[in-house]
Amino acid sequence: MKIDIDAARLSEELAELARFTHAEPSPEGTAVTRVVFTEDDLRARAWLRGLAAEEGFAIREDAVGNTFIRWVGIEPDLPAVGTGSHIDAIPHAGMYDGTVGVLGGLEAMRALKRSGQRFRRSIELLLLTSEEPTRFGIGCLGSRLLSGTLDPQRADSMNDTVDAESQGTLSDVRNAAGFTGDLASVRLEPRFYHAWLELHIEQGALLEREGLPIGIVTSIAAPAGYRFTISGFGGHAGALLMPDRRDALCAASELILSIERHALAANAASDTSDTVATVGTCGVFPGAVNSVPSRVVLQLDIRDTDPARRESVMQSVRCDYTEIAGRRRVQIEEELVNADAPAQSAPHIVETLDAVCAELGISPKKMVSRAYHDSLFMARIAPIAMIFIPCRGGVSHRPDEHSSPEDIARGTLVLAHALARLAAE
Ligand code: GLV
Ligand code: MN
Ligand code: MN
Ligand code: MN
Repeated sequence: MKIDIDAARLSEELAELARFTHAEPSPEGTAVTRVVFTEDDLRARAWLRGLAAEEGFAIREDAVGNTFIRWVGIEPDLPAVGTGSHIDAIPHAGMYDGTVGVLGGLEAMRALKRSGQRFRRSIELLLLTSEEPTRFGIGCLGSRLLSGTLDPQRADSMNDTVDAESQGTLSDVRNAAGFTGDLASVRLEPRFYHAWLELHIEQGALLEREGLPIGIVTSIAAPAGYRFTISGFGGHAGALLMPDRRDALCAASELILSIERHALAANAASDTSDTVATVGTCGVFPGAVNSVPSRVVLQLDIRDTDPARRESVMQSVRCDYTEIAGRRRVQIEEELVNADAPAQSAPHIVETLDAVCAELGISPKKMVSRAYHDSLFMARIAPIAMIFIPCRGGVSHRPDEHSSPEDIARGTLVLAHALARLAAE
């Protein structure tokens, strides 16, 4: 089957989507900040719906804003083949993370339509809400709810951590954005999709280093998130003498270094680099240069291919912080945000991707995704796999994130061929 990807149009659309941003311009590249349910996110969604409507695709939105763009197949009652990703972007990010899977998915569907073929199964593009944890502290909000992984009531009561002034919850924020209705209705039936495929930039440097243009993801590492609140005793930075201090930030610093030490030790013990741990935010109260910090809130992101090893790192960290809290006379509270299992790709879809690559003369690399993606949760309700394309220097979550138009078009072509095969099954 002859399938032509319109690489120029796809590049233009990626650039156009990058204009919906509230990031400060950056000399490093195209800076994008697009936090879920902000004006920019809502305008970007409307623009995408416009592109889908031009093609005559059916559009549906659910109560959390997941958007379903369907090209109806010859047998509309058969489970569809799904593809998609996210368009939200963390603060000061680049323009390819997630967007390549959404606009690439749209272009793959358009290319299949242009080829004149019709398929038994519908092909459906999903824009998934809030893959990034920026606003509500938990990633993959849309796909967690679709797959029944997150309790709808708990989700609706999660606090808006970005616009804390508003004291809003997800329920308030989504309603204000026009996404009303019961979150419980978001959940999909198991086997709603015959297959699910997500195209994404690698966000690492392995493909580039090995000179390979396509990665086939065979598994996705298991992420977890924790929030720590460290409460000490504040006071005047001049008058509160050192022997009397119970400085929350000093205790937090020891905790951060303990996390790093145990993650490094886990890697050394297993002779891998599979454990990664990051404290990416640190809120200091009251946050004045002449005031001893009385309270600190840290957010930890910890991931591993082996969830048992991830938990054993946490156990070691717990021993350390009990000791730190006693010695420094502070309180350390730990709150679990999420602890997810890893996901495996479906052998059948991996074989389909292998066959497509062979047909197109591409040698792919089988690889683990160390970043998480909505596919981690789609795997709970559908057989999944992912297609990775190289990104320059492995850089991601930064304005200088870059994938070449050729690599994006190639990934989109592989996606289109694989969707065609799966939709014909
Ligand atoms: C999601 O963007 C992740 O942090 O892997
Ligand atoms: Mn991301
Ligand atoms: Mn992403
Ligand atoms: Mn991601």
